[in-house]
Amino acid sequence: MQVRASAGTEAILLVGGRGSRLRPLTVNTPKPMVPAAGVPFLTHQLARARAAGVEHVVMATSYLAEVFEPYFGDGAALGLHLEYVTEEEPLGTGGAIRNVASRLSSAPGDPVLVFNGDILTGLDIRALVSTHTESGADVSLHLTQVTDPRAYGLVPTDAYGRVTAFLEKPQTPEEIVTDQINAGAYVFNRSVIDTIPQGRPVSVERETFPGLLADGAHLHGMVDSTYWLDLGTPAAFVRGSSDLVLGRAPSPAVPGRRGECLVLDGADVAVDAKLTGGTAVGAGAVVGHGARVEGSTLLDGAVVEPGARIRESMVGAGARVGARAVLDGAVVGDGAVVGADNELRAGIRVWCGTELAAGSVRFSSDQ
Ligand code: GDD
Ligand code: MG
Repeated sequence: MQVRASAGTEAILLVGGRGSRLRPLTVNTPKPMVPAAGVPFLTHQLARARAAGVEHVVMATSYLAEVFEPYFGDGAALGLHLEYVTEEEPLGTGGAIRNVASRLSSAPGDPVLVFNGDILTGLDIRALVSTHTESGADVSLHLTQVTDPRAYGLVPTDAYGRVTAFLEKPQTPEEIVTDQINAGAYVFNRSVIDTIPQGRPVSVERETFPGLLADGAHLHGMVDSTYWLDLGTPAAFVRGSSDLVLGRAPSPAVPGRRGECLVLDGADVAVDAKLTGGTAVGAGAVVGHGARVEGSTLLDGAVVEPGARIRESMVGAGARVGARAVLDGAVVGDGAVVGADNELRAGIRVWCGTELAAGSVRFSSDQ
């Protein structure tokens, strides 16, 4: 059998989702463009694909589609040839893949990589492609194991790694037949992409994969237990960014040394402020005297006033956290102002531009 090397393999990046679960982080910015460890998250995925030998990437865009190209351009800065295709109406994951097929130069039997645009992983991309060619599968999927698979696509396999079913977001306990889930990276034979219906929404998870299985196609699962995180929720996004800064999650695109914190050029951090746990501080951000920021992300131009305590939280671009305020598991939208002495915890989301007066929200007594 002819085994193709992954060098030169084309890739499709699915970056058109609305990022609803991340709001308000995704009010002004599509999920793949929200900064993680100092750069738009997508940069990490593109850099990892490039390091695995991918040269041509087609971005399937929809929500806030206009922001991708001005930032990444033709991809030359990353050593890539990037193209952008925008859906008039969101076409779903399968429809998005089909919609960009005309931009691929791969022959019918060639492998084409497809990535969800919100996955941080150490996946060996070359190994996924070589497993695909060696098994002779029509489609191969990266699988990972999680303790609670309900928010994902369940993918049971037989003793040879052949996929036996695909159950997207199972609703009943009986459907939870495995802890193996779809990790959001696929290799499709080009010819399979061309069989997806054109011009209408298609879910690759709910329609294409089950349909291929029903038709007897060979879907192959490669279980890989390397670092894996779907950055679809604020808590996961913040953790992903911290893991990149700490070096727990691999990426060639982190703009600085791995460690307790990453401070971008132009940020102003007081000498007695403490930044730990993989905290990222964006360009032009300010951290005042005695502030403590742990495992958190401060986007460009954010201001943290003296004595604030921030843990596992995200502070949006240009947002302000007042003196002595406490944030724990909080999201503060772009341009919002959290007045002094507020206490925000437990998944609270402060919408973009909101102003909370000093001492107006607490989770404990103020005395
Ligand atoms: N272009 C385009 N158009 N992209 C889309 C569309 C669309 O209509 N809808 C979703 N996407 C993109 C999203 O931007 C994201 O990168 C990817 O497709 C997956 O969408 P999510 O909304 O993140 O899906 P999910 O996390 O609930 O589930 C998916 O990922 C899980 C792994 O994290 C599924 O593929 C599951 O099976 C999988 O387990
Ligand atoms: Mg997701």
